[in-house]
This record gives sequence, C-alpha cells and structure tokens, in this order.
Amino acid sequence: MARRRFLVNFLKHPGVTGSITPSSRFLVRKMVESLGDLDSCRCVVEFGAGEGCLTRYLEKRLPEGCKILSFEINKDLLDRVNCRNGNVILVNDDVARLERYLKKYNIRNVDHVVSSLPLAQIRREDCLNLLSMVYRNLKDNGVYVQYQYSLLSKGLIESVFENVEVRFTPLNIPPAFIYVCRK
Ligand SMILES: C[S@@+](CC[C@H](N)C(=O)[O-])C[C@H]1O[C@@H](n2cnc3c(N)ncnc32)[C@H](O)[C@@H]1O
Repeated sequence: MARRRFLVNFLKHPGVTGSITPSSRFLVRKMVESLGDLDSCRCVVEFGAGEGCLTRYLEKRLPEGCKILSFEINKDLLDRVNCRNGNVILVNDDVARLERYLKKYNIRNVDHVVSSLPLAQIRREDCLNLLSMVYRNLKDNGVYVQYQYSLLSKGLIESVFENVEVRFTPLNIPPAFIYVCRK
C-alpha cells in the first residue's frame, strides 16, 4: 500500500518525490549505522520523511528522550508516517524553514541530519544554501548523512563539508550512494 501511494506521488511530483518507491531496509539501516553511536543524541533532524521508513527506524534506534524533527513537504505522504513515539515531531513544511522550527521547539544543537532529499533536482544555489544551513546547525562532530542515486552532488557537498565519505549499497531500487559528512 505504501509503495503504491509512493508511486502515485512520484507520478504527480517526480522532481520533488525523487524516487518511485520507499528506501529498502538495507539502505535505511546503512544510513542510520553511518551516524555511529547514538546513545547521547538529543535531537536528530530528518529531511524528506516520505511515508516514514527511515523515521520509524530512527525512532527504534534513538535513545528515549531524543527528539526527531522530521520534515516532509507532501502532506499525503506525511499522513502515512505513523510513528508511535511522542518524541517524533512531524513537520509538513519545506526543509528550507528548518531554523524557524528549531527556534519554535527550542532546539539549540542538532546531533545529526538524515536526508533523503533529491539534491540533484534542486537548483545549485538553493542546494548550497541548504547544505550551509545544515552545516551551521550541526554540533561539532555531528553527521549529515544523505543518499543519492548518483555522484552528481559530490562536488557541491564537498564544497561545504571537508570530511565526506561515500558509501554504496546495491540493495535498493535503484542502488544508492550514501554520503557521510562529518562536521
Ligand atoms: C526520495 S523521497 C524519500 C522518502 C523516504 N525518506 C525514503 O527514504 O523512502 C524524498 C522525499 O523528500 C520530500 N521532499 C522533497 N523536497 C522537500 C523539501 N524541500 N522539504 C521537505 N520535504 C521534501 C519528498 O516529498 C519525498 O517524500
């Protein structure tokens, strides 16, 4: 059901949705493992929750009391996220407004940012602004993890983050690169 809903949304808004199907459990696991030790996390931000496959996995892995601020611009998908934990704050808005919500929820520092945004579909200048906004709100040593289906955005990401490692998983449709960027 979630897959059909995802496909319908891809057909309606291909550039924004960025994928025909939700991420595989292999990709989801690899993304969250890339963050390292999660025990001391107080706030993780998610960009592009979709129908919530990553959100639900994060919810299981993060310690009690850690907030997850999860953005999804598409209300139809956000309505399907279905999290059980009161620490998940779902935001039906553009990630460009992240700082407004950090203020609203009194969050000073973000431990990690987990992003599924289709960067290659976003204008270069907007993408640079977005990456700079992520960088300035991350704690020192915090990780920005982002998957993509190509290496097109590598140069752009490296222009903001000095420490970038690229991982790969073939176990996803389509196979995905994972950028692990440490502040
Ligand atoms: C490739 S899907 C990933 C969904 C899910 N996280 C997954 O891994 O299956 C990207 C999601 O980002 C959302 N999105 C795209 N641009 C956005 C923006 N500027 N602000 C918030 N969400 C956005 C899309 O609506 C879409 O659901």
